[in-house]
Formats: sequence, structure tokens, C-alpha cells
Amino acid sequence: MPKSSVRPSKGTKSKTTKLSSKSAPVSRSGRFSSGPGADVAQFTESISFDWRLWRHDIQGSLAHAAMLRQIGVLTKVEESAIARGLADIQQDIETGNFTWKPELEDVHMNIEAELTRRIPAGAKLHTARSRNDQVALDVRLWLRDEITALRSDIAGLQRALVNLGAANAEVIIPGYTHLQRAQPVYLAHHLLAYVEMLQRDTGRLADGQARLNVCPLGSGAIAGSTLPMDREFVARQLGFVDATGQPRITQNSMDAVSDRDFVVEFAAAAALLAVHLSRLAEDMILWAGAEFNFIKIADAYTTGSSLMPQKKNPDIAELVRGKTGRVFGNLISLLTLLKGLPMTYNRDLQEDKERLFDTADTVRASTRLMAAMLEHTKINAAVCAAAASDSSLLATDLADYLVLKGMPFRQAHHVVGAVVGLSEKNGKPLNQLTLAELQSIDKTFAPDALAVFDLKTAMAKRNLTGAPGTKEVANQLAGWKARLG
Ligand code: ARG
Repeated sequence: MPKSSVRPSKGTKSKTTKLSSKSAPVSRSGRFSSGPGADVAQFTESISFDWRLWRHDIQGSLAHAAMLRQIGVLTKVEESAIARGLADIQQDIETGNFTWKPELEDVHMNIEAELTRRIPAGAKLHTARSRNDQVALDVRLWLRDEITALRSDIAGLQRALVNLGAANAEVIIPGYTHLQRAQPVYLAHHLLAYVEMLQRDTGRLADGQARLNVCPLGSGAIAGSTLPMDREFVARQLGFVDATGQPRITQNSMDAVSDRDFVVEFAAAAALLAVHLSRLAEDMILWAGAEFNFIKIADAYTTGSSLMPQKKNPDIAELVRGKTGRVFGNLISLLTLLKGLPMTYNRDLQEDKERLFDTADTVRASTRLMAAMLEHTKINAAVCAAAASDSSLLATDLADYLVLKGMPFRQAHHVVGAVVGLSEKNGKPLNQLTLAELQSIDKTFAPDALAVFDLKTAMAKRNLTGAPGTKEVANQLAGWKARLG
């Protein structure tokens, strides 16, 4: 493996990419007489990507060491030495002074081997622990933190949507079905639809986060240990507790070392989040085009064309839409990875990490970039007003008018259909028709009929919960502002 072939760190500020190029034999003691060849080592190593688990690996080892001291496997002096050694390694990793060795396969062996090289008592750290329960622990700890960070990214995007809506609270646009003009809505109502979707995404992520918050350590390789481990102690140390502070530990060692449900759950929730981000991106792309021209995205969030000087392309939004492909693909990869595995741990499981990391990196970046883009987007209020002044948007209101006069809705729909036909034939918008013209279709129309086309009044009337009425949208905006802080 070439030196520094580890990808530069995403999602961490430390320079943790130093990689040794030695192809020394793997340090497997005991029954192995020779190490693997270079091609085998390169095929099996995971350090090039799982180094990202280092912080959580150390966190887990500190808790495990504290427990080993409690039960008398480590002396106080040994535990302190191990804790100090791990703190030094942490510092070396953070400052980019730690050399990851591919011949040591993965993050767990790299850290433990270096600890033991520095601190002889490190050789006791793996007591009653296997990389099988260790990796299950590390991924749970890593993902727990990552979900917390993603939930806060999502809240940031929700705030950006609410702020854009609130700053343009008067702006009305056509609402669309089938991408055809349907009925008028406040722009804020349209944006708040995404706030609702994102809130459900947050809920799904939180549900998965609560379900993964169970400590697998103590499961060993498959069958626990004959040693008197204090699993509850470790769980408490690592924050695997329920709402009442009681420790939560896995109840079946075989399940615990082979379960990756929580990774799939995250990938599924992330895929749905990606769908929502993609739909928002699509709306922005449409709105930024000359045909709609509802918004102007700031230059920093668009790119030019190398050939056409006039172009300003919404590439950020397009990439958010495009990146859904890899997020969906990761979910399918993970499901496929798990479906045929016999109990219990199988090395296949190592393949979960790149898919997991890629999903987390992708949805977090997409969420943050969408928020930043919205914060740098202006609304073309005049264009929106012109589009919303299309009186055919209020054809349904005219039918409702007839219903209030006692006409069955089916008949009112038919009558207004005829009115629309007349307006098309006469080349006049609906609100320019005269009372006589309306009455030529149905005598139920009275002089107050044309008042239906006053947009302000029409918006004020839509005050069912969840409708885009003037008061209702203001209430929703205020509610979300309060909820999101
Ligand atoms: N790197 C491995 C993984 O990600 C760690 C566990 C390896 N365990 C084993 N028995 N080979 O799954």
C-alpha cells in the first residue's frame, strides 16, 4: 500500500493519516508460522478507513480498563498507566504524529499494539474482550455521536427554511400539483412542508439512536467470558443508560457481536432524509430557472459554464439531488451484506464501515450545504406576485362560493368548469369576467361573486389547521421558531 494512501480525514480536524508502508508480517502470535502476503494484507486491512473510529475505540478501552481494575484484573497502578498511555496515543493521533500500520489490520489492533509497546500492562487490556465486541461497541459509540451531530445539522436546515419563510412572510406563490398551477399558497407554507419532513427524519434518527444505545461489551468473541466482568459498570461509564439512568446492556452475546441492524436503520433513515433533501434541491433548481425565476441563489452557491458566459448553474442543489444515489446504494449494500451471514461474527461485517461513513458524510454535508444555500437565497417577490395573481388559482374558491349559496359541490365544479371555458374562449382571465358573463352560465352568481378573486381575502379564509391561511401560516412560523430556538 502506498504511503499516505489513507484518504484525508473528513469529519475530523486531526491529521490522522500517517501510514507506514512497511509490509512486515502481521503480529499474529501462536499458531501462525508466517504472515500474509502483501496482496492478502492489502485485501484484508481496514485501517485505511476504520482509523476514524479511534476516538471511540480509546473511549471504550478506558471504560473497559476501569472495569478490569474494579474486578481486580488490573491494579490501580496498571490501570493508571494504561489510561495515561491511551491519553498519549490520543494526543499523537490528534496532532498527526501517530503512524497507522496496515500490517496491524485495523484501528483496534493498531492502538492496542502501540499501547502495549509503550505500557507493558497494555497486554492485559484485551482480557475478556474480542475485536468482535470491540468493533460492535466502537461503531455504536461513533454512530451515536454522529446521529447527534446530524440531528443538529437538520435543525440548522429547518431554521434556514423557517427564516427564509419568515423574512418573506407576505410572499404568495402558486402551489402546484402535477407541476401545474393549482391553488395559491404562502411561500412560507411551501418551505414549512420541508420543515415537517425534516422533523420526521429527526424523529426516525432519534428512534434508531435510542435503540442502538445498548452496550455490547462483555459479549467477547461470541460467548461472553468466564471472568466476572461488570458489564453494567462499563455501560454506565459509556453512557449506555435509559431515561432513568439504568444501564442498558445487550442480552445475547451472539446477537451482540453480529448485529448491525442499527447501521441499517441509520442508513434507511438517512436515505429518506436524502429523498427530502433531493426534493428540496429540485424545487430550488426549478425556481432558480428563468421559467420560474422565483429565487436568486447567491453566486457562491452556483457555478458558471466554461463555454456559455451567461450561465449560473445551481450545482450545489444538483449534487445534493445526485448524491441520493450513493446513499440509496449504501443502504442496499448493507442489507445485502447482512442477508446471508451465518451466526455470528463474519469478516464480511468489516464491509459495513465504508458504507456507513459515506452515508453519514454525505447526508451531513448535503444538509449543511442546503442550509447555507438557503441562507444565501433571495426571493424575487415581484415575480412570485405576478405568478400568484393568476386568477385561475382561485377557481376552486369560486366553486366554494356556489356551495355556500346551497349548490352541491359536484354541480358547482361543473359550473365553474364552464366559467373557465368561457374565460378561455373570451381570452379573459377569470377575474375579468363580468357578472353578466358569469350569470350567462348560472344564475346563482350574485354581485359578490367577483370578490372571490381578491387574493388577500382568499388567503385569510384558509384557516383550517395545516392550510396555507394567513393566520395559520403565521402561527406555524411562530411555532417552529419557538421549537427550533
Ligand atoms: N476490522 C474488523 C471489522 O471491522 C474488526 C473485527 C475483526 N474480528 C475478527 N475476528 N477478525 O469487522
